[in-house]
This record gives sequence, structure tokens and C-alpha cells, in this order.
Amino acid sequence: MDKIQQAKEQLKRYHQNHMLHLLEQLEEEEKQKLVEQINQIDWDQIMELYENTKREIEIKENKIEAIAYLDKEKLTKAQKEELNCLGEKIISNGEYAVVTMAGGQGTRLGHTGPKGTFKLDVYGKGKYLFEILVDNLKEANKKYNTIIPWYIMTSRENYQETVEFLEKNNYFGYPKEQVTIFKQSELPLIDTQGKLLISKEYRIKEASDGNGGTYSSLRESGALADMKEKGIKWVFIGGVDNVLLKMADVTLLGMAIQKQVQIASKSVVKANPHEKVGVFCKMNGHPKVIEYAELPEKMAEEIDKNGELKYGESHIMCNLYTIDAIEKISKEPLMYHSAFKKNTYIDEKKREIIPEKENSYKFESFIFDAFEFFDDIAILRGKREDDFAPVKNKEGVDSPKTAKELYEKYWKRQTK
Ligand code: UD1
Repeated sequence: MDKIQQAKEQLKRYHQNHMLHLLEQLEEEEKQKLVEQINQIDWDQIMELYENTKREIEIKENKIEAIAYLDKEKLTKAQKEELNCLGEKIISNGEYAVVTMAGGQGTRLGHTGPKGTFKLDVYGKGKYLFEILVDNLKEANKKYNTIIPWYIMTSRENYQETVEFLEKNNYFGYPKEQVTIFKQSELPLIDTQGKLLISKEYRIKEASDGNGGTYSSLRESGALADMKEKGIKWVFIGGVDNVLLKMADVTLLGMAIQKQVQIASKSVVKANPHEKVGVFCKMNGHPKVIEYAELPEKMAEEIDKNGELKYGESHIMCNLYTIDAIEKISKEPLMYHSAFKKNTYIDEKKREIIPEKENSYKFESFIFDAFEFFDDIAILRGKREDDFAPVKNKEGVDSPKTAKELYEKYWKRQTK
């Protein structure tokens, strides 16, 4: 069967008549490209995800408990030194790598371009988010006399721009040969009738499949193999938008080593019951993060016997893994969460449709859904003013204004 015939069969089987009509109207080159894409789509997967959007979310009988944590502030000097020493050894030995997830769209911030290229107005001159991350890595390299390999995950959409930006800025002085930029995978957008959306370029509209795609993309891009070749034992995965993120925290690393766990994470205390952060807990004996959009009101507000929020350890995208843990997760499928969104598309008569309300689903897996594959996680409670200043929204909470304040205050304290 030729490629066109094969594509048409798929479209018929999965009830994509709009695309059959469209195919007939395309120029030869456009047609070839679309056909190729149709033949590459995992149709069973996308149809299953679509069917799941119609199902009620199953409420299972779950046993949910608060998570145990170690408070960094409460460690004695000797305890801290012991942990730091364990962590330092790994980093100085060149057994530590860092991954930055920079594949998000940054829609809420309203910045056009990759989020890492956003300039935060600090110290008059300003600093790009990527530059702030590089500063942090360079500081660690100096302290531990090493060069930490840095892997940056981008999306198909922002890969080119990210590469060009970093090239233009000479990687802010980071040794280029230790920087690997890779792309995450994507999934098609699908409407409420189970039809895939088409873009202006007559391609099936796809979008990044969420930051849970990091693990499989590390494997598929060859980054994981590269890490193994370099002798990496521990991998840190963090976000792009927290200007106080510590990517080489030796206390966190030492704690993970001492507790002999495969995964660890840094938390801060939730600012208020409704702060938009995921929270840690244990579900049926396994570590878990419940995302803010999915946290029941009652759980969000529950207070423990010390008067603190029972589910108050916030996930701040500061996660650490053994290389074996990454290897294991990269082979396991993560669950997908669906987000109902407004997306423009081209109809079968080649007209652009701009919907007035939500019309389609985007599927995303979340980085922390992999925590459930493990029996335990070690959590280090950090301090908000030292560890968490995200740039998420244009204005108000978690905005450039709040991040600038926290960043400048932090550095003022360090230089005192
Ligand atoms: C995220 C966390 C939330 C946490 C909060 C802290 C998830 C799903 N949620 O929420 O639990 O409390 O940060 O700041 O992780 N990204 C990709 N590819 C994608 C989607 C996102 O690389 O397809 C990256 C972004 O570039 C960013 C990070 O993941 O670095 C966070 O993504 P975002 O979707 O902005 O999550 P939040 O809602 O901020």
C-alpha cells in the first residue's frame, strides 16, 4: 500500500473525515508532508486519551498521608556538614548532571519567546532567566572544581530560538561543549468530537506533552546515554522560572545519599492553602504530588497538630534522581492529564477558525507522577526566601516584580 493510501485508511478508521477532505485540496508537497505526519501518529494512543476525557475521574479508595521531611533549618552544624560532604564528593567527582526543563510556553507571563529569554529587571541592567541559571551553575563549578554537564529540554516550537539565543550570548560564559539542548515530544490536539486539529500550515496541530515528557525525551534524544557515558550517578531536574533555584544543593544530595533513596526533592512551606503549587503527600504508601488544580479544598485547608498545613510541603520543581531512577522512569508510561483549551484551527474548507470558547484538549504528563514508581522519597524543606521566587504571571503573585524583590533581597543577604 502506498503512503497516501495508508494515511487515508488511518483517517477512515479513526473517523477523521475532515482531514480526508482537506487532503484532496492540498498541493502535492503539502499533501506529502501531511501524509507523513498522519502515518507517524500513534492513533490508538490519541484516541484512548480522547475517550478518557469523556470518563468521570475515578475516585479510588486512596490512603493519603502527610509526607515526612527534613527541615534544613533545624539541622545542626555537624549534621549539615556531614550531608554536604557526601554531596560535594559526587559533584567534584563529575558524577552530577543538571537538566533544565524549558519546553513550556510561558503563556501566563505573556512573554513571546522561550521563557529563559525573559529578562528580569534586576540591578538596573537586568538578567535573563537563562543567565541566572548559568550564574548558579558557574558558582557550583567554581566551588566544587568541576564542570557540571547541563542539559536543556526545549520544545519543537522553541528549540531554534533557544539555541540561537544561547549562541548569541555565548552561553553566558558556560563551557559550550558541556551544554546539550534537546527537544521534548509532542501529542496532537483533539476537539470534543474526537477530530484532530489542523494548523495554518496544513499540519496536524501538536503541542508539547508536558514536563513529564522529560524522562522519555532524555532517553530518546540520547542525553541519557551521554550521561551514562560520562559516568553520571545523580541527575537534578529543575524548572526554568525560579530565580532562586539551587541546582547543586549539596545538602539535598547528601540527604538522598544518606537515606539511600532513588529520588529526592526540595520543598518550601506553602504560603497559603490556595497557593498555586503542587503539594507532596503519600498515597497508598507511595510518594506523590497533588497538583494545585486537582487538590480537593478540604485537603488544601487541613491543619496538622502543630498548626501547620497538613499538606503544606510545596513541590518547587527541584528534583533529584539517581541515574538508575531516570533509566527506570524513562521506560514507563506516565498518566496524562487533559487541559481543555481554546485553539485555532483550519477547517476542511481551509478557513481559519478562531474559537470563542474552549474547543479542544491538550494532553500533558507531569514530572512528579513518576514519584509513585518508588517506595520512598527524601524531602528537604528549604526556605522560601532562599529557594523559591518563580516568574509565572505578568502581574501580582509570582510575577517579575515579586521575583525581582526576592532575588535582590537574597543576594543582599549573601553579600552582607
Ligand atoms: C509547576 C508544577 C507545580 C509546582 C510549580 C512550582 C508541574 C506540572 N507543575 O507548575 O507542581 O508547584 O511548578 O513553580 O510540573 N515545561 C516543559 N514542557 C512542557 C510543560 C512545561 O518543559 O510541556 C516546563 C516549563 O518550561 C517550566 C516547568 O516545566 O520550567 C513548569 O511548567 P508549568 O506548566 O509552568 O507548571 P506550573 O503550573 O508553573
